[in-house]
Amino acid sequence: MNAPHALGRHLALAGFMGSGKTTLGREAAKRLGRRFVDLDREVESRAGASVAELFEGRGEAGFRALEEEVANDVLREAEPLVVALGGGAVLSVRTRATLRARAFTVVLDVAPATAWERVGGSGRPLARDADAFHALHRERRPVYDDVGDATTTDVDGIVLAAAGVHVEVGSLDVLGELVPGAGPVALVADAHVSGIHGIRAQLALGSRDMEGHEVPAGEAAKVPVVLERLWTSFRIGRDGTLVALGGGSTTDVAGFAAATHMRGIPWVAVPTTLVGQVDAGIGGKTAIDLPQAKNAVGAFHWPVRVVCDPAVLTTLPDAERRNGLAEVVKTGLLAGEPLWELPEPEQVRRCAAYKAAICLDDPHDRGRRLQLNLGHTFAHALEAAAGYALPHGHAVALGLLAALRLSGLEAEVATVRQVLAPEPARVDADAAWAALARDKKAVAGAPRLVLLEAVGKPRWGVEVPEDDVRRALHELIA
Ligand SMILES: NC(=O)c1ccc[n+]([C@@H]2O[C@H](COP(=O)([O-])OP(=O)(O)OC[C@H]3O[C@@H](n4cnc5c(N)ncnc54)[C@H](O)[C@@H]3O)[C@@H](O)[C@H]2O)c1
Ligand SMILES: [Zn+2]
Repeated sequence: MNAPHALGRHLALAGFMGSGKTTLGREAAKRLGRRFVDLDREVESRAGASVAELFEGRGEAGFRALEEEVANDVLREAEPLVVALGGGAVLSVRTRATLRARAFTVVLDVAPATAWERVGGSGRPLARDADAFHALHRERRPVYDDVGDATTTDVDGIVLAAAGVHVEVGSLDVLGELVPGAGPVALVADAHVSGIHGIRAQLALGSRDMEGHEVPAGEAAKVPVVLERLWTSFRIGRDGTLVALGGGSTTDVAGFAAATHMRGIPWVAVPTTLVGQVDAGIGGKTAIDLPQAKNAVGAFHWPVRVVCDPAVLTTLPDAERRNGLAEVVKTGLLAGEPLWELPEPEQVRRCAAYKAAICLDDPHDRGRRLQLNLGHTFAHALEAAAGYALPHGHAVALGLLAALRLSGLEAEVATVRQVLAPEPARVDADAAWAALARDKKAVAGAPRLVLLEAVGKPRWGVEVPEDDVRRALHELIA
């Protein structure tokens, strides 16, 4: 089996001339916080001559030999890179073997006419004659099909593929094709969701040897006894794959079951809530709750695939959709784009891509990923003070107001009011403050928060005077 994602591996971009490998590769590298290597430029700088000069001087075979050397050197580097391969670099059998061993390869698809418009007559050695160019495109196609772990056309698509995330309307019905491998499958489904979408999932997995497990609907699934029931009833072994169907609660407990059953088996998340598709299903954090705290016990266990079918969200109750919309607004503020204005399937794709890039860069929550907590310090304090009777989305909407106000972004405060319209919370102010202080006690001194320098410019670990934080919290309470 090829690599399911680019976590800890190079992300290689392949594709024909004019498919955008360099432009999109540079952008993807920026999002993933990785160094970008453009193979053609690397060859040129090592040889001290341009690609055209090298073709001229050494012939295509000579150039290919040099290109193969450089490609294999680059792909041997330990630090995971984003590498834009030259259009013909994948012709080398040796390079293809190295890619399989050390990289996750995304092919950028481009129609030959578009490619010709971009690079035809540009002086590139293989883009001088239109007929020859089109013939070459036909000839190369099977090579790209062979080398590619995924195919896409844009930078969100690259990042999603790199994280193993598949966003497509109708994808639940082709789930069987999207679960990697051919071994047995254990389907773990939210009991309520199972009644609505379970049959489709089972039909789509029909060709696989399958066992089914149900967990209680929603948060009630995230308890030790449910986990224990899963452990003791699983029949699949290490060759099997767990498939989790449900919201964030289901993917959290099922993902943790996958992380621990036989010391870890692969799993596929199929999030069925907006929260799940834009947030909980992505990034490999799994957990259950204990009486003392939410998400008290868990593991980092990256799913081999995340299948987001925005069509399943049509059955979602309004209250659950509002929870998701709060995370969409949070992501839009972090990304600097009004993502909440997009149609829902696009919201899912864009938000999932934003989170996927950050989590790939910081899978163990040591730095950049902290930004995803925008508004959440306040939200958690309000939820705790309400004994978790306050919906998470409502608490996040209020938390965003506080974070934006402390960031001095009054226009965005108005936007959040307009889009999410959160009522002040009916909780005890002292209890909320105590919960916030408890949450922050791990770090000595003034509370540290995620704020925005501007929309699209998050800063984390910002020290804010205690009085300001307390005042901002109180403003959220009725
Ligand atoms: N691991 C992470 O990174 C992460 C991130 C965010 C949230 N979470 C966790 O996710 C959990 C919340 O998940 P959630 O908001 O997705 O809700 P949920 O899983 O608790 O589900 C909420 C309700 O919606 C129902 N439901 C789910 N999909 C449906 C559908 N398509 N149609 C009709 N009903 C449907 C469920 O049966 C349930 O009753 C929390 O426990 C939170 O801690 C985890
Ligand atoms: Zn949240």
